[in-house]
Amino acid sequence: MTELNVPTYGSYLQLGSVLNAQRPPSYGKGSEPTRALLHHDELTFIVVHQVFELWFKLMLHELSAARDCLGRASSEGARPDRVAEREIPDVVATVGRVNEILRIAIDHFRVIETMHPLAFLAFRDSISPASGFQSVQFREMEILAGLPEAHRERLGGGSYALHLNPSERERVTKRLGEMTLKNALLDWLGRTPIEAAFPRFAETFRDAFNTYSEEQAAFHAQNPVLTQAERDAASRRASVQRESLRAYLFDGTADELAARRAFVFITTYRDEPLLRWPSTLLDALVEFEQGFRMFRFRHARMVERMIGSRTGTGGSPGLGYLEQTTAYQIFGNLLEARNFLLARRYMPSPPKTEILRFTFGA
Ligand code: HEM
Repeated sequence: MTELNVPTYGSYLQLGSVLNAQRPPSYGKGSEPTRALLHHDELTFIVVHQVFELWFKLMLHELSAARDCLGRASSEGARPDRVAEREIPDVVATVGRVNEILRIAIDHFRVIETMHPLAFLAFRDSISPASGFQSVQFREMEILAGLPEAHRERLGGGSYALHLNPSERERVTKRLGEMTLKNALLDWLGRTPIEAAFPRFAETFRDAFNTYSEEQAAFHAQNPVLTQAERDAASRRASVQRESLRAYLFDGTADELAARRAFVFITTYRDEPLLRWPSTLLDALVEFEQGFRMFRFRHARMVERMIGSRTGTGGSPGLGYLEQTTAYQIFGNLLEARNFLLARRYMPSPPKTEILRFTFGA
């Protein structure tokens, strides 16, 4: 019988390659190209890492699509005066998929935690100096998302790139030359035509925030439950917040201010139909930042349980290093906007609200 050249389940998914990739190379210790597993649980260790790497691959694919969609206008050199609302739901879906992947991938640490630390010790030495620190896809995700290189903790003062092989380094260099999701977001936010709906939005919002903040301070000043020192501290905090809001809306480059003002505007008026999708997108990106940080935090907790505070196979201080990375933030102070949101009764009304509503017919 002649074989038909049509897809089968196994050939389409290339299961021959995928399912034959769970025996580690023997690294010159024998004539065989691969070595046998050293412990029953080593398969769990390998499979869980491979599953993570597949999720990383998919997340890179999705984050690139989100970046391309948001950043397209700027990368083509055009700066349209309107946000392309029609495409925003697709970006929301894409970032939403990444968030779901992060959510379930974080749960996969539970699978590796079924391995007892003593089982890990049975083969840990044989994988050294390999480490998740060398995951090139993880580095690509950080770079694509927009983690500032200057914010990274350095291992032994050197760059993570020193721990990668030449082709991995090339991938990282290529990513470093691409637009990041963060910059695409800033560009997209910066194109929000706030003035059309709300001339002098920043000034009006600052005044409304000051009214709110002074009322809060007056409330705390009369709070019978607090000591005088606590009342004074609450009042000082309120004036610090007023100053932070002023700096957020008025100190910075024109691009930074446009993006920050848009973040506050879109979130404040999220009930207006035209802003609903943009605000849903901002929520999805806030969730992405949170998910990425949860990954680091959850990984650190698993490591604490598995190896305590011993040196990592990659040579880092291990847990101490990982704890430092849990402070990494992608979108940085853009998310400070959350400090400044107002209860509805304090919100100034946009003078031209009709611009933010849909109209049907002529
Ligand atoms: C027994 C399980 C694990 C242990 C004990 C462990 C331990 C560590 C340690 C100590 C580091 C710091 C670098 C070093 O010195 O090696 C690290 C980094 C890392 N690990 Fe794991 N890990 C485990 C499983 C995983 C899994 C399942 C993943 C999923 C991909 C993962 C991903 C990473 C990543 C991405 C880094 C780099 C983090 C950064 O530099 O920000 N690890 N790991």
